[in-house]
Amino acid sequence: MKKPGKVYIVGAGPGDPELLTIKAMRLMEEADVILYDKLVGEKIVELIKKLRKTAIYVGKNSGEKGMKRQEEINEMMKSFALSGKTVVRLKGGDPFVFGRGGIEAEFLTKEGIPFEVVPGVSSINSVPASAGIPLTHPGFSSSVLVVAGRDDVEEWKNAPLKGTIVILMGRDTLEEICANLIKAGRNPETPVAVVENGTTANQRVVTGNLKNIAKRARDVTGPAVIVVGDVVKVRKNLGFE
Ligand SMILES: C[S@@+](CC[C@H](N)C(=O)[O-])C[C@H]1O[C@@H](n2cnc3c(N)ncnc32)[C@H](O)[C@@H]1O
Repeated sequence: MKKPGKVYIVGAGPGDPELLTIKAMRLMEEADVILYDKLVGEKIVELIKKLRKTAIYVGKNSGEKGMKRQEEINEMMKSFALSGKTVVRLKGGDPFVFGRGGIEAEFLTKEGIPFEVVPGVSSINSVPASAGIPLTHPGFSSSVLVVAGRDDVEEWKNAPLKGTIVILMGRDTLEEICANLIKAGRNPETPVAVVENGTTANQRVVTGNLKNIAKRARDVTGPAVIVVGDVVKVRKNLGFE
């Protein structure tokens, strides 16, 4: 039997190609096949295409069920690896942050396919940073809570009243999130920033507070990181607004 190829589960960073790691770049150059996600930045996709590899888009199309797509991706990784190919499974940000990287690694383990996880620059910290927002700052915040905003919105009643909250996938539930945070006791004047398409040429930042941000960010349609907390004020000190 042919020796299976190896699968590299690689983080592509938040979108700016210069935020790809040197290892990610090397592995893409060496790979036979690249399976890439929706959140892999446009410029990185252009770069992949220039490498002239077999590059397959495996992101979810609108209306498609996540689980079915995941099974197809798992099967693709398996069949390419079993035919001896080196596979780069390229995912936005870091593969082990809200990206199903763990599920894919579990699948490969179960199938006995050699793999390696290659960390990437997560949007959690890089997107706020590129909008001039440090996640911690002396006198403003010394803690960070990271949450997915799309589910379990009820759980917001347990959110801390101090410190920074970073919300991924919260764009469409922003109004509920803010209302729940106020209900949980957060000051309605707490600053909030919504950073859309962070680190790319299309980056846009909308700021406000818990009372008004949902209205102000109504026309945000791209991927967005939401930052709640006094650290948002720091961007002004840094000349970002
Ligand atoms: C499925 S999660 C994947 C997170 C990714 N693994 C990471 O480490 O950044 C997708 C969410 O990440 C956030 N995101 C990723 N890239 C982003 C970017 N360039 N700008 C703003 N938000 C981004 C958005 O909240 C988006 O809905």
